[in-house]
Amino acid sequence: MKHDIRSIISQMTLEEKAGLCSGFDFWHFKGVERLGVPGIMVSDGPHGLRKQDEEGDHLGINDSIKAVCFPPAVLSACSFDTELMEKVGDAIGIEAQATDLAVVLGPGVNMKRSPLCGRNFEYFSEDPYLAGEIATAFIKGVQKHHIGTSIKHFAANNQETNRMTCSSDVDERTLREIYLPAFEKAVKEAQPYTVMCSYNKLNGTVASENEWLLTKVLRDEWGFKGMVMSDWGAVNERVPGLKAGLEVEMPASGGITDVEIVEAVRDGSLDEAVLDRAAERRLNLVFTWEENREEHAFDKEGDHELARHAAEQSMVLLKNDGILPLGKNEKVLFVGEYAVKPRYQGGGSSHINSFKVSDAFSAAEKLGNVRYVKGFSGKDDIYEEELAREALAAAAEADKVVVFAGLPDSFESEGYDRDHMDMPSCQNRLIEELAAVNSNIAAVLHNGAPVTLPWFDSVKGLLEAYLGGQAGGAAAANILFGKVNPSGKLAESWPLKLADNPAHLNFGGKRNVEYHEGIFIGYRYYDKKEMEVRFPFGYGLSYTSFEYSDLRLDSDKMTDGGSLKVSVDVTNTGSSAGSEIVQFYVSDLSSKVQRPVRELKGFGKVYLEPGETKTVSAVLDERAFSWYSIELADWYAYPGEYEIAAGASSRDIRLTARVCYETERRLPAVIDYNTSIGDLMEDERTRPLGELIARKMDAFFGADDGGGMNSDGDEDSDNGFDAAAAAAIAASQPLRSVVSFGILSRDELDELIAKYK
Ligand code: BGC
Repeated sequence: MKHDIRSIISQMTLEEKAGLCSGFDFWHFKGVERLGVPGIMVSDGPHGLRKQDEEGDHLGINDSIKAVCFPPAVLSACSFDTELMEKVGDAIGIEAQATDLAVVLGPGVNMKRSPLCGRNFEYFSEDPYLAGEIATAFIKGVQKHHIGTSIKHFAANNQETNRMTCSSDVDERTLREIYLPAFEKAVKEAQPYTVMCSYNKLNGTVASENEWLLTKVLRDEWGFKGMVMSDWGAVNERVPGLKAGLEVEMPASGGITDVEIVEAVRDGSLDEAVLDRAAERRLNLVFTWEENREEHAFDKEGDHELARHAAEQSMVLLKNDGILPLGKNEKVLFVGEYAVKPRYQGGGSSHINSFKVSDAFSAAEKLGNVRYVKGFSGKDDIYEEELAREALAAAAEADKVVVFAGLPDSFESEGYDRDHMDMPSCQNRLIEELAAVNSNIAAVLHNGAPVTLPWFDSVKGLLEAYLGGQAGGAAAANILFGKVNPSGKLAESWPLKLADNPAHLNFGGKRNVEYHEGIFIGYRYYDKKEMEVRFPFGYGLSYTSFEYSDLRLDSDKMTDGGSLKVSVDVTNTGSSAGSEIVQFYVSDLSSKVQRPVRELKGFGKVYLEPGETKTVSAVLDERAFSWYSIELADWYAYPGEYEIAAGASSRDIRLTARVCYETERRLPAVIDYNTSIGDLMEDERTRPLGELIARKMDAFFGADDGGGMNSDGDEDSDNGFDAAAAAAIAASQPLRSVVSFGILSRDELDELIAKYK
């Protein structure tokens, strides 16, 4: 039955309407029984259900129902596979229907600004395009089942330190190009039923009261139709929040803020229409769910298999000097507690109570000749002599050694940030020692963010399992033994050391954090600075090899509102089947503003049998070429040449092609007293004025004696300035100089400016 929401609202008391604007308890929204409005239940998310029936908390402390932990975002993004992400969302949507949940709180799309953020494991990428594509697919999957998602945390929540009070101070171009696009894409293409505003302040205003963010950008510009809820405890002042666009406060406020809303309507400081609109958005959510209930069973075993498949498609092979895959008959030693007790998810609100966990050792026993010794504990950073001795002795006997290393839970979690990028020193030490007794050594990493690798040169193989979800152990074993060919690629850059990170000098601040690096985060920074990195964005190896050929564009021109199809053929040139992720990057070759060297604007993943060739394509739109102009308050692509690159990573560009972007649109020409001669010369509309002024200056200063504006009165015409230097100096003279030097009167200059404006 379709409910008449407006009619229901018209029958509500003021108190009932205000009551809709906050939670009933930790996980429930209030119902209004007498009008047939049901209460609904929400749960974390994002990579599975954390449905708490009894003791509620948002920190992952108390148990929730047994569920399935899919790979957290840090890993799943490395699949670069939107179809797969939609499948995972689909499964979670079904699980939610089966367990009477109305909203799953995720996905998390904040950018990985620094490797230190304790919550990076819950976020997809340092690249807004990739995060937006993956999130959109996930949301579509979940919402196929009329289960809401809550894309979070809106916005610029990039650290955990003082997350509830700190202001992220970000200039608008950077917000528009880096921190908002993943939200924007998801809102425009998938309409998440809800958006969760973040804890932090954005440029001084708490997100939950930020009208620019919650109304102007989210609703007026992007056309968001759903409901905004607060992060748990993110509300500062309730009535200003409601006015700014925050419909629901979570969790419950004990009724205090409901009373504030009622009083504000009564004393005239809050327009009741604002409350009615919030109530309508809130009821839309409830009835969308209620009117579309589906009968499903929670297929835990089936979803476990999907979780394994997702992990297999995402893990990233980072190094392989011929050690992998492991052979069936080789004597293999697994070292490290994570081999039997994997660290497969992060701490905090996303912590899922897995119904089962598969470990790599049990899975590997079925695939080869494997022995396990502990070597070190997965919890503490204590070098235990006895364990180490046993591991070293066993390693000397083995054909190959695989160390299961990584970060213990205490090293990274929601709620705090790391203060270094290192692994436990006991692990680093043991890996070096093992490598000294057996040079056939590989490592499998379990971590939510990049770490430093002091022993990188001592190992022959490295598999990044990140946090693999509950089936990640089996996935790692299948990859190690070659049952699955690895195909994931990094969704983040790995700096060589922490100090290389562009946010290094401005991270973790107490009251505010200034995002001085601007748009240059991740590979956008490392590429611009031509820096060495441990691994570049988009990097990942395979057991086979791929060749790229015939990069083609469907046109040599692109225009505003147009689209450009880019295609490339990929051939599997090795001897095993495998998948390749092709990345398409765009570079502005003639830009007059600072832009990254290249930016990801398309990707595709393709499965190929040995010898097989397939085409991978992407369609680039105007946005793929544009930067955000503050002057225009809009996206803008300069006319000129752009390079389209097909890469196996951001630093492994295989083929390039060029396209000419044509547009009549121009940034406004600025001419005032402080416009420089150089700026006038750069723009064809103002160049005639620039030339005129330059001529007048030359005439005044005597350009032909080599002195001109640069003359110090020296008779010698060769005073150290050649013509090019003189022109360069003249270029930065502002128009007002012609008045200061007495070349023109103010009136004459005003007349000229008016003529060319
Ligand atoms: C987290 C959110 C989460 C909420 C509910 C908060 O602390 O920041 O991501 O959805 O708790 O558990």
